[in-house]
Amino acid sequence: MRMRRRRYKGDIRRIRQRNGRIFLVICLVVFGAAAVWISIDEEKSEEKAKQAYKEQISKEEQEDEQEPQVNVEPTGPVLADETEKQQWYLRLVNKDHPMTEADVPEVAIETVDANGYQVDVRIMQDLEAMFADARAAGRNPMICSAFREWDMQVSLYENKIERVMQEEGLTQEEAAIKASTVVAKPGTSEHQVGLALDIVSSDYQELDEAQMETEDQKWLMENSWKYGFILRYPMDKSDITGIIFEPWHYRYVGKKAAKEITEQNITLEEYVGAGPVQTPVF
Ligand code: DAL
Ligand code: ZN
Repeated sequence: MRMRRRRYKGDIRRIRQRNGRIFLVICLVVFGAAAVWISIDEEKSEEKAKQAYKEQISKEEQEDEQEPQVNVEPTGPVLADETEKQQWYLRLVNKDHPMTEADVPEVAIETVDANGYQVDVRIMQDLEAMFADARAAGRNPMICSAFREWDMQVSLYENKIERVMQEEGLTQEEAAIKASTVVAKPGTSEHQVGLALDIVSSDYQELDEAQMETEDQKWLMENSWKYGFILRYPMDKSDITGIIFEPWHYRYVGKKAAKEITEQNITLEEYVGAGPVQTPVF
């Protein structure tokens, strides 16, 4: 009896040991299979990612080829085109583009203010708007010269030559050259075509460089382009205009040109492609 029980216990132990080995083998097989499966899956994913990357690059290359070529040429200055140059408001009047007395265009002029100053009727509306807005902003600029008849320009010019001769001891010829940089020789003044005005501050009426420091003048310099006017003879541009810096002389050129000229800090000469005046400045 005792012998049989001992054998029975021995059998059970062996069965357990065998089951344990079988279980171990099954586990090894399962883990092994799982490891192989995971490895294959990873390889597949990597392959897929590579393929997707290749497809993306190829798509981008195709798109690049199809994209229209962007013009990368630097854009030049914005200037008046040939049609605009023919417009009355862009007429260039300077030493190199003079008028004889017979050439001066007959334009309809209109009186601007109580002092009797007159301008080309076509600029009246913009001029009035500029003065109305200046006043609304608390400024009080005033006109001190506008349209000039031929004889008036002759008189101003000759008086200037006399003064320069006396003050600087120059010959008539030298004085005439110098005077013409301040008061245009008759036939070369924009005042003669009714498109120019001298405007000063009511607080300071001298025609000198200090004019630019006045609040009225600052407002005009900042805002006149909105109404079609430019400061025609700017600082450091005398070699182009042939005229000294005049922080009071405004010229009507129309709103589009005034904006483009002001934005680009150029002169009317440059805007219409005329180049610097060749007549000697001093
Ligand atoms: N003072 C400007 C140049 C003129 O006389 O027209
Ligand atoms: Zn002037």
